[in-house]
Amino acid sequence: MATCLVTGVAGFVGSHLAERLIADGHAVIGVDCFTDYYARALKERNLVSLRREARFQFSEADLVATDLAGLVRDVNWIFHLAGQAGVRASWGKSFDAYTRNNLLATQMVLEAAKQHPPEKIVFASSSSIYGDAETLPTFEDAPPQPVSPYGVTKLACEHLCRLYTRNYNLPIVTVRFFTVYGPRQRPDMAFTRFIRAALENREIAIFGDGEQTRDFTFVADTVDGTMRAARAGAPGAIYNLGGGSRVSVNLVLRELETILGKPVRVRYQAAQAGDARDTAADIRRAQTALGFAPRGTLATGLRAQVKWITEQTQ
Ligand code: NAD
Ligand code: UGA
Repeated sequence: MATCLVTGVAGFVGSHLAERLIADGHAVIGVDCFTDYYARALKERNLVSLRREARFQFSEADLVATDLAGLVRDVNWIFHLAGQAGVRASWGKSFDAYTRNNLLATQMVLEAAKQHPPEKIVFASSSSIYGDAETLPTFEDAPPQPVSPYGVTKLACEHLCRLYTRNYNLPIVTVRFFTVYGPRQRPDMAFTRFIRAALENREIAIFGDGEQTRDFTFVADTVDGTMRAARAGAPGAIYNLGGGSRVSVNLVLRELETILGKPVRVRYQAAQAGDARDTAADIRRAQTALGFAPRGTLATGLRAQVKWITEQTQ
């Protein structure tokens, strides 16, 4: 049994990860400060089943404003998922939250870990560091060229991780998530917005022509890859955790119509600054080194998310 620190535990991916760690027999210390990017009530709901677990402890704390020594001491694995997500919102005044909760928070976690080194630190990075990649699918060693301020902060975090591995031998593994979906997906993300609008018979706003593609990844696969990275990831290594297939936004809409059994109303509007045109993960490194094998399909994963949203709104 490992004792694990999960930062960002009240969030979408962090809450799923903590549940899987508990199910696998580990103990979890979860930390989150409920940033106001989206409603605290949604994050509290993500924690409901975890709070019933004897092996789960929760600490409401801001990574930037807390002495983290007590949290990282005696921990085997740190999963650092806390951060300011969302590519399109990262312009203008909100950039402050991105530098604070991504770059500064990561530096604080790494400094604390330097004093009390765990067996492994897994850092949740993002496909957004690639930007408009020159090759698809994109290999981990492709030149990073982020197209959003968010991507710039995540790339800077990756660089920090590399420095702490190189100078202080911290066993940090970086995983790059690709557009994660499924139950508890954040309210600003596409699938949640599409499903909510369709259920309420509102128009779905599509940014651009809808032919942009994403390597959408079902959350259970993201979680599985993240745990594999803790067990088997090489310190200093970076792994793409993509869903294994690339799909256009228009195709997602067709799938949603099939699931709902009705047509959806769509309004195409201008493409948004910060959005990459396409993402696709080359996952061969994670397959070989970690045994990562994503299983989720768009049909089953989207259905699971529709079911979850329907239950929430009843
Ligand atoms: P989320 O917003 O649902 O979860 C992040 C959590 O971190 C939130 O609950 C927030 O309150 C917490 N947090 C932020 N700053 C904090 C701080 N200073 N101290 C303590 N807690 C803090 O986001 P998510 O979608 O679950 O993403 C989790 C991580 O994965 C993020 O780092 C994100 O950048 C990364 N990521 C997500 C996706 C995706 O598709 N969801 C893709 C690539 C990378
Ligand atoms: C997602 C996460 O939100 C980021 O935090 C993460 O870092 C990134 O994945 C990643 O993989 O690194 P994104 O791909 O923009 O970012 O995810 P969605 O919000 O689900 O958008 C998917 C696509 O749908 C985008 O092309 C977007 O432009 C489009 N979209 C989104 C719409 O057309 N309409 C909407 O209302 C929302």
